[in-house]
Amino acid sequence: MSYLIKKERHKELSNLLNLHSKQYYIFDDPGISDAEYDNLYKELLKIEEEFPELKSETSPSQKIGASVSRKFKKITHSVPMISLDNAYNEDDISAFFDRVRKLSNIENVDMVLEPKMDGLSASLIYKDGVLVSASTRGDGVIGEDVTANILTIDGIPKKIGIQDVEIRGEVVMLKSDFQALNKQREEAAEKLFANPRNAAAGSLRQLDHRVTASRKLTFFAYSIISSKNIFKTQMEVLEALRSYGLVVSDKIALCKNQSEAFEFYKKIERQRAELEYDIDGIVYKVNDLLLQKQLGASTKFPRHSIAYKFPAEKAQTTVLNIITQVGRTGNITPVAELKPVTVGGVVVSRATLHNKDELDKRDIRIGDRVVLQRAGDVIPQILYPILEERPAHAVPFVFPMTCPCCEAALVKEENEVAIKCINLGCEAQLVERLIHFVSKLAFNIDGLGEQNIRFLYERGIIKSPVDIFSLEERNGELHLEDSEGWGTVSVKKLFKSINSAKTVPLDRFIYSLGIPQIGRAVSKAIANFLKTYGNFLECVKNNSEEDLYSIQGIGSSIVNDFRSFFTNENNKKILIKLGGDENSKGIVDIVNAESAEREIFSGQTIVFTGSFKNFSREEARALAEKFGGRTSSSISSKTSFVVAGENAGQKIDQARKMSINIISEDDFIKKIEN
Ligand code: IVH
Repeated sequence: MSYLIKKERHKELSNLLNLHSKQYYIFDDPGISDAEYDNLYKELLKIEEEFPELKSETSPSQKIGASVSRKFKKITHSVPMISLDNAYNEDDISAFFDRVRKLSNIENVDMVLEPKMDGLSASLIYKDGVLVSASTRGDGVIGEDVTANILTIDGIPKKIGIQDVEIRGEVVMLKSDFQALNKQREEAAEKLFANPRNAAAGSLRQLDHRVTASRKLTFFAYSIISSKNIFKTQMEVLEALRSYGLVVSDKIALCKNQSEAFEFYKKIERQRAELEYDIDGIVYKVNDLLLQKQLGASTKFPRHSIAYKFPAEKAQTTVLNIITQVGRTGNITPVAELKPVTVGGVVVSRATLHNKDELDKRDIRIGDRVVLQRAGDVIPQILYPILEERPAHAVPFVFPMTCPCCEAALVKEENEVAIKCINLGCEAQLVERLIHFVSKLAFNIDGLGEQNIRFLYERGIIKSPVDIFSLEERNGELHLEDSEGWGTVSVKKLFKSINSAKTVPLDRFIYSLGIPQIGRAVSKAIANFLKTYGNFLECVKNNSEEDLYSIQGIGSSIVNDFRSFFTNENNKKILIKLGGDENSKGIVDIVNAESAEREIFSGQTIVFTGSFKNFSREEARALAEKFGGRTSSSISSKTSFVVAGENAGQKIDQARKMSINIISEDDFIKKIEN
């Protein structure tokens, strides 16, 4: 990636790392997990390696203490832990078989097929039969020393019946253990893990091994590295690993040719949802280890193995009911309640149906059998109903005319898809606004999740965001610790996170207010433009929102929402109580916006598809947002352009049909650099 982008990212990483280590040392509350912290830190080091001039005195990498103690010791792998090339279809696999055939001069080479576990790889070093160290993959050359953590995993023998070997495998969290962990975290109002892989990584990469010990992890072994050539085949290796007492997957097959392999691939794909662990494909490996060695590796990948990835996981289930929910801004969203089903490692029991138009168009009915899809961390989607299986009594859903919460008549504004409840006093909206206020990208108050907000609201303990900050003071009377599901420890923790959330950057503050249409990107743009809370308050008080028009991407619709939000005296009062004015000091400390970013994508909606050379999809989206753009995962008439990476599929055809501009990754980078 170019210098400019890296420099921007370096600045951002430095700020983040400094903020988190301050949080950690001063408030004893890191705000992010060790694993997340380390990832940021590693990214920073990588940039500095490439551009040493960025390694200034103020860089977190140059400070001793703060960052160092949060790092793992490094271990250099005896043999680099390279990753596998991916295949996405049978053509890719044919090409792999052809290459092996050509290089080996053998018509049909035996292949071992193993599930590709979705976790993180680890290496275990045994000396004289004793486990002496263990590390993560790291960057493939240097990994992190996680010996103490690995020792807490059941099923990893401390001693084995072979002298000096390195055993490699995958650390995963079984789906059942993942669900139990998330349930426990939900009850404690802690952040949930998105999927078993993240949970496994977050649990293993902990500086305090006691945290790892409290999580249930499983290690699946798949290879042995030894200086002596003890084994002739991969099948022998797997057998030996089992005999040492290690866990090896039982979904393994030795295949004589490509069609046999394909059958096994298909068979496991059908079983995928029922397996105890997440897998994202099947690894094909040449069984003969000598031949493996002869085939060697290209610059990036071994030639003897390939990972045949599964398409996004799909599942079928039944729609038990369709309900309507009231959002923070009054939008009414239809939601399907589903017979629980596991998709992509997560139990799904509801899925959004977006809005009335969408629901009408797709005609999903109560009682329908539907096909769901979940790709990566994305919220599951209902793809379509299976019409052949539609029960005779299923009727189209009748959208309500009144609000399911306050029963006010619902309104559909011209040119808008959303059907809204416009009653400002609607309690469902008030609660949603409170949930938004404490959410991760707003005030980020740990320990105050949706459940707790509902609990406190229903009991009249908090009615507005202001009340959150007086909880500790009022607890003399409230005795929250005595309420069911709270306890002294969690209440103490909650007060601590409320106190440390009191310092908030201006953009997050604006976002937290929950003004319709003022999401993350717009809040950032406003904060960058106005710079200080004082200016923001002026803008609200003097109705000088003309100023806002000069921000790129903000038009009359957003300004109208801004105006009507503060026309409500109550909203204005809450603003001043939180942030203060010339007569009164506010409850929270609002820190000024950083220097403005160039808003080159302001007003534009960008869709990324395929995989990229320079960044992950998440990073690409973050980059686009950083430069003022909005991003979306689906193509619509609002899409300004599509950035197509490798293996971009359907979306490209869709964009072409709609005559939407398609640009390459390089073009996207150029746009930022110009
Ligand atoms: S063999 C030369 N076997 O997939 C690489 N890897 O993209 C040898 N993985 O880093 C790896 N299940 O984390 C191998 N049965 C399996 C695997 C597996 C999961 C992961 C592993 C590796 C990545 C390769």
